[in-house]
Amino acid sequence: MIPISPLPQHVAIVMDGNGRWAQRQGKPRSEGHRAGSEALRRAVEAILERGIPYLTVYAFSSENWSRPTVEVKQLLDLFMKALTKDIRELDEHGVQVCFIGDREAFNRPLRDGMRRAERRTAGNNKLRLNVAVNYGGRADLTRAARQLATKVKQGELHPDQIDQVLFGRELFMSDIPEPDLLIRTGGEKRLSNFLLWQLAYTELHFSDVLWPDFSAEHVTAALKDFASRERRFGGLGQVQNA
Ligand code: IPE
Ligand code: IPE
Ligand code: MG
Repeated sequence: MIPISPLPQHVAIVMDGNGRWAQRQGKPRSEGHRAGSEALRRAVEAILERGIPYLTVYAFSSENWSRPTVEVKQLLDLFMKALTKDIRELDEHGVQVCFIGDREAFNRPLRDGMRRAERRTAGNNKLRLNVAVNYGGRADLTRAARQLATKVKQGELHPDQIDQVLFGRELFMSDIPEPDLLIRTGGEKRLSNFLLWQLAYTELHFSDVLWPDFSAEHVTAALKDFASRERRFGGLGQVQNA
């Protein structure tokens, strides 16, 4: 493995293109989602191999409920299967699994499965894998605003105390660094309501490859692209003293 430097500490992925991948082969969309779950296993392996500590993947958005009922059901079934089958393997590899998003919308077995997976892997420290399910960036921000408003109402907080640090603490994943690199597969160049706050200064890498075809080589290409970027965060970077 050829070293790449600097490496991102936190990679986020919008795993898009499952449906088109299946349709191109004359298969049902559900086949694309199944192949997509294999692509996720490969991506996790590649990220583990590089020693990157945080990976966040968009598995189901708060808007994906608007798909046909049968597709939503297939996605949730696949998700349930992953919770039982793949968790063992992730656990053995030292992966800590966390879920972000509103899980109240899911049925009891799924919610229990998610909690069990989180508990089982809680002590692992090779990689933290955040899986976004029924996640929406706007919902995340709205929830934070509501929580702060409640604290103000209860007299625990004065409105003047609300700054970016305090606000950020109410969001999902506030305990880990924000993503350094966002990869979106499938050719679309948009965020689709993913991590709106957390992506403020994230480097964006768009790939035309459909998610089920995304391989370790594609992960490497994205990491190389990241390594070539100059991050300035509004400052002047390399030309600072010119
Ligand atoms: C991404 O693939 C997976 C989910 C959104 C759950 P899509 O299902 O969006 O695939 P395309 O974009 O229709 O090809
Ligand atoms: C984003 O993909 C959500 C996930 C990958 C889970 P979508 O396929 O839902 O996004 P749009 O509809 O193309 O914006
Ligand atoms: Mg899509």
